[in-house]
Amino acid sequence: MALPIPEEKITEIRHATDIVDIVSESVMLKKAGKNLLGLCPFHAEKTPSFTVSPDKQIFHCFGCGVGGNVFSFLMKHQGVTFPEAVRMLADRYGVDLPRPEATAAQRRALTEREQLLAVNQEAMGFFQRCLGQGGPGRRAKDYLDRRGIAAETIERFELGYAPPGWDNLLRFLTGRRVAPALAEKAGLAVGRRDTSGHYDRFRDRIIFPIRDANGRVVGFGGRVMGDDLPKYLNSPETPVYNKGRVLYGLDRAKAACRQARRVFVVEGYFDAIALFQVGIENTVATLGTALTADHIRLLKGYVERAVLVFDSDAAGVKAAERSIPLFVEAGMEAAVLVLPEGDDPDTYVRRRGREAFDKLADKALGIIAFLTVSAVARHGQQTVEGKVRVINDMLAPLSAVSDTMARSLHIRDLAARLDVDESALLARVREFSGNRGRVSGPGERTLQTVSMSMAAGKGSRLERQIVAMMLQHPQAVAEVSRRRLVDRFEDPGLKKMGMEILAQCAETPRDASEIVQHITDDALQGQAAALAMEQVPWNDQGWKVVMTQYEAVRPHRNDDDLLAKIRTAEADNDFELLTKLLKDKQHRASNRQEPIS
Ligand code: UTP
Ligand code: MN
Repeated sequence: MALPIPEEKITEIRHATDIVDIVSESVMLKKAGKNLLGLCPFHAEKTPSFTVSPDKQIFHCFGCGVGGNVFSFLMKHQGVTFPEAVRMLADRYGVDLPRPEATAAQRRALTEREQLLAVNQEAMGFFQRCLGQGGPGRRAKDYLDRRGIAAETIERFELGYAPPGWDNLLRFLTGRRVAPALAEKAGLAVGRRDTSGHYDRFRDRIIFPIRDANGRVVGFGGRVMGDDLPKYLNSPETPVYNKGRVLYGLDRAKAACRQARRVFVVEGYFDAIALFQVGIENTVATLGTALTADHIRLLKGYVERAVLVFDSDAAGVKAAERSIPLFVEAGMEAAVLVLPEGDDPDTYVRRRGREAFDKLADKALGIIAFLTVSAVARHGQQTVEGKVRVINDMLAPLSAVSDTMARSLHIRDLAARLDVDESALLARVREFSGNRGRVSGPGERTLQTVSMSMAAGKGSRLERQIVAMMLQHPQAVAEVSRRRLVDRFEDPGLKKMGMEILAQCAETPRDASEIVQHITDDALQGQAAALAMEQVPWNDQGWKVVMTQYEAVRPHRNDDDLLAKIRTAEADNDFELLTKLLKDKQHRASNRQEPIS
């Protein structure tokens, strides 16, 4: 696919960008020598191995092998295409790009995802304009008033209204040259079964635009104003909307989350909005779905702790049980806050105010403690039967805790609480874990990119250093090319990488960030980023020593080939070939650098 963005613009954007700023938006980074270190957003880990180099403007995770430059980071982290990543950064750093929305022809050239996002954006504007307009729009506005949503909040959350009627939005979009088929793909229109056209999905509903963490409008939720069912209608899954990967409100909650280091996870649109309205801005909502591993990974970039807020004990227990392994996997702390019977976060803060909510939040129990308390509430802890039932309920949650220290502390707590023998309880948990297999095993680690063979002797070690030098010192590439070192590489991975760099730098020198950017294979890209971060001799005298050492370890195999060919040509009396081969030999010898020192 042709890239509509000129190469020099891409370079300009890359130079305008600081990868540290971009990564910091979603990963907490701490200084570690020349680099910055944080928890990898691409795999679950508790010890930071995600490294960002401000000098080289690249990142690499030594845990899972992922790596690249600022564009690759956005592509992988936000799930966007290369042109999308470039545009995002262009917007942010004020680099002018030809506007893709300008003409119909250009619009056609947009990727489908970009088209869908553009349609959503248009639709959001339409819904916003409909709120408060005309009879029904007035009714919608009154409904929000009645629910205590201030005008400022409506603005902030860009709430809207889908008017009654079958094709208001469709007609509007058609006027904007959006085909009904595209509106259908965006989830805004539904195709009639007899295929005789389309109708609006959202009709006579309050509209909640759903933005992803990056602020792009990816979908919508719509609530009826009366008692009709279903109460909420949401966008279906589309190429830009996956409810398991989006948390409502995260785009607005990010800053507050980072500051508070914790996030409240609620279940409803109105819950998130109501908490936000009373100043609890570190709040997100799941969208009619259970919390997923992707959600938690997303949150991990902003907070250390998630507080799951539930309307009732029963709902909380089920959800908490399900999410334990996910939090354990992700290495994130979680607590559960259960509201008094009959309240949800929306009604609670409106009734009791922010301080009351803060107090409850301070008392929120960690997941295991919460499950213990509710098991005790269910079964009692006075009788032997009660104790046995509580223990049975707690076996799965306890064995899901993979941190052995944390687990033994939980076991001690529970044993003390039930007044049972701690070692007997420990044995039960062990037995349970043994039977079931560990809930969270080290299996994920197998997805680590096995790095290129490093152990295979001095030759490979030098090959590795040579490639690292090529990535870090564009001037070294010319020398490597002149000595034709890559030809002799024996490590296939390093050879592939070396050839890639030579090919990329044949015309103009490129720095590591640029080379890494042009590698499309994910694994190779990660390896390139790793090599670009490796310590290498930093001046040309140093590289020459390494190169000469390598030449000594691996004499040029092609020389042998050449000699063999010369011998054959002599034997065949093929003087024409022989002359050519001898010239080659001479040429090679004069090109070879004298070893230094
Ligand atoms: P609730 O019914 O608890 O939502 O569902 P709520 O926001 O408190 O609703 P009201 O407006 O105050 O009565 C929680 C969430 O579950 C999803 C929605 O995301 C909703 O916000 N849901 C609920 C649906 O997707 N479909 C439904 O029919 C109901
Ligand atoms: Mn509610």
